[in-house]
Parts: sequence; C-alpha cells; structure tokens
Amino acid sequence: MKDSNFLKAQNAKHLWHPMAHPAEMQAKPPAIITAGEGSKIRDINDNMLIDAVGGLWNVNLGYSCEPVKQAISDQLQELPYYSIFRGTTNDKVIELSDMLKDFFAPEGLSRAFFTSGGSDSVEIALRLARQYHKIRGEAGRVKYLSLKKGYHGTHTGGASVNGNANFRTQYEPLMPGCYHIPAPYPYRNPFNETDPAKLSAHCIAALEDEIAFQGANTIAAFIMEPILGAGGVIPPHESFMPAVREICDRHGILLIADEVITAYGRTGSWSGSRHWGVAPDLMCTAKAITNGYFPFGAVMINDAVAEVFEKDTSGTGAIGSGYTYSGHPVGAAAAIACLKETERLKVNENAAARGAQLFKGAQELMAKHELIGDVRGGHGLMTALELTSDRTTKAMPSKDVAGKIFQAAYDAGVMVRVSGPNIILSPPLILTSDEAGKIIAALDHAFAENPL
Ligand SMILES: Cc1ncc(COP(=O)(O)O)c(C=O)c1O
Repeated sequence: MKDSNFLKAQNAKHLWHPMAHPAEMQAKPPAIITAGEGSKIRDINDNMLIDAVGGLWNVNLGYSCEPVKQAISDQLQELPYYSIFRGTTNDKVIELSDMLKDFFAPEGLSRAFFTSGGSDSVEIALRLARQYHKIRGEAGRVKYLSLKKGYHGTHTGGASVNGNANFRTQYEPLMPGCYHIPAPYPYRNPFNETDPAKLSAHCIAALEDEIAFQGANTIAAFIMEPILGAGGVIPPHESFMPAVREICDRHGILLIADEVITAYGRTGSWSGSRHWGVAPDLMCTAKAITNGYFPFGAVMINDAVAEVFEKDTSGTGAIGSGYTYSGHPVGAAAAIACLKETERLKVNENAAARGAQLFKGAQELMAKHELIGDVRGGHGLMTALELTSDRTTKAMPSKDVAGKIFQAAYDAGVMVRVSGPNIILSPPLILTSDEAGKIIAALDHAFAENPL
C-alpha cells in the first residue's frame, strides 16, 4: 500500500468525485477513509469517527458484518462471475429471488429483476412500466409523474424524473414526457401551508390536476420515494402515499416506489411502502441489499404486473434490458447473507428506537440553536436538520456555514453529510444508544462553535 504522504499528495488529483466540483475537491481535498468497524470509520490520520452517514445510507449492518464478508469471499472462490442473460443463471441468484419473494410478500412483490445499483433499478422500473402498458395494448402510456425534491439517481431516465435542479440543469435536455408535482414538504412549498395533512391534500389535488391535464391514458407511472431522502429527509403525511396509490389505481397508472434508501429497515419498517400501508406495483431497491459491500440492486415486481409479461404470447413481453452484472453471483451471495443478518438482528426495530432518539435530540438542538430552521425525521434512522440564516424569512445560509458545522462535528468525532442547507443523518441501523447520544453531542458542540 502507498504511504499516507503519497495518498494525501495525490488526493483528488487524478479522479473526479461524484456530486462535487473537481476544482473544489482539489482545493480542499476530501477526507481519506481507510478503515471501518461497527458503526465507526477511521481516517488516514487515525481519527475514529461515528459514521452518521452510514456509508451512503447503505451500510445498515455496519462495517464488521462477518457473515456478509464471508459470503463474498466464499463466492469469489466458488464462482466469481456468471451471467444470467437468457440461457444461463447461477445458484445464488435463484436462492436470493426466493428469499426476496418471501421478504416482500406483504407488498405482493414476487419477482425480482437484478441490477448493479440504485440508478440502474430506477431505469429498469421506468422501462418495465412503459413496456407493461405496451404489452396490454396501451402504447400511448409513456409519460412519468414524480415529486419535486425527489431523487432517483443519475441515469438520464432517473434524472428526468428527479426533482432537484442540481442534478438536471447541466445535463438538459432530459427525457421528454416527465412532469413534477409539488413535494409534501411543509417547511417550503408553493401553497404556503405548514400543516402536513392539509399540505398532503394540496399535493394530491395537484397530482389529480396534472393527470387530468396530461390525460391519464398518456401516463405510464408515478414514481416516488416513500420518504424523500437525498432531497432532505421529507416524510410525507401518512395520508399521502395511500392517496397516491388510490389515484394511480383509479387511472391505470403504475406506482413505482423508489426504495433505494428505505427498503430493508431504515424507516423502522421493512419497507417504506409497508410503513405507509401501501403495496406498490414496482419497487426499486439497492444499497442495503448488500450492506454496501457489493454494488447490487433489485427491482421487485408484483403479481399483476408480472402476469402481464409472463402471459404475453406476442413477444412484446421479452425484456430488452439488463446489465452484465445483473444477478452477479457475488452480489447475490452478499445479499443472501445480508438479508439473513438483517432479519436476525431485526434492525428495523433498532432503526425505529434510535431514529426516535436522534429525532428528539435534533429537535432539542433546534430549541437551542438559531441556525436550525427545521428538523425532519421521526420515521427510523433518517433525520435532517435544515439550516437557515433567518427563521422568519427562511433564508438559505451562506454556502460555507454547513461546511463549518461538518468540520466541527468531524473534529468532535462524528461524520455527518451536508446536502445543500441540510445536515443529514443516516447512520447504520445497528447504531447504539450511546453512539446516537454522541452524534447529538457532537452537533451541539458544532452549532455552539458556529452561532448565527
Ligand atoms: C431514492 C434513490 N434512488 C436512486 C438512487 C441512486 O442509487 P445509486 O447511487 O446506487 O445509483 C439513490 C441514491 O442515493 C436514491 O436515494
């Protein structure tokens, strides 16, 4: 291994970092992480930090999950790769698909289409939705509806349904036929409505209005995150997703739940859809399916949609999509071990308890520190603190403010994530009560050091 002087000297010189300006990374090189253990990570200077980011909302079982590591290592010895394109498959992917069918039985999702990650899963779900309508003879249903503030990855299809200009503007023109509905985000919304239930009703009315305007028979699917994650942790009111489900049913529109973050326990329930009592037609999953140890994803498909494909005799049901790494045996082996550990440890229950603790702690920080304008969470281990330079006008703070909070928290031993004006907390689901307390204490210190 190269020594630390070499690594520091070369940091960000010959690679471009996702979601960052290359010049900014060169001017202020990113933290170099070299090891992980439990819910903690170590940087190149030997600082141990509680990882309140959980990798990237994906290392749900922490960095020391031996069964997943062992499964990966065993599979590399046994069969490091084989494709599942037409005509071949592998043993691990068959076993995994059977486990996923049981895991998602409450949602009625019985078929899996495997991918290499979240953006891939979104892309596949969008494609399958159009194809479903074509098989059924409704070829005109090609449009997609989604939420502003939603995040659906960075492929062109996903970016087209994304609801954040940061991931769109530089890559336009995006895919035509994508329309966005206001997000049920009480802190900022065009209705000037702070009551979550009333706001939910406004957003639902906007959805109905858009469907009437576009014509239901032109719309393939509505895609949403059950709790918006990257957009700043926005849990909709409990009425929202069930109302979306009812509207989609009434208009023959498929509901795609993008659960790349929320599936496998993060919300305190086993899926975000289950959290709201909704059964989607298609569900995008990735991230925690392998605990982040191997790039992998699965789009889950319900019986009704599956039947349309499987009963097709015209040939239009043939799937013209897939990735070289779809159903990768090492990823599948990791996912099998990961699902077993996820269920054995009942990490959803700990996510609910520790999530409540972090949310309460964040609310107490807001009572103390003027810089915090809004705190969102209360549904598992997804919490955000939105910063403002003026609570009355909700003005955005200057760009460097969140960076200063990040640095002060880091110096106090906690890694947090900054996204726009938001400090986002999405730690591993095995977080202990003591670690949750330390995250809040580090943030308390960081806000005290950087008063408004
Ligand atoms: C809801 C959602 N969808 C899709 C993606 C894209 O996943 P990936 O980064 O694995 O491509 C993400 C990533 O954070 C996500 O949060």
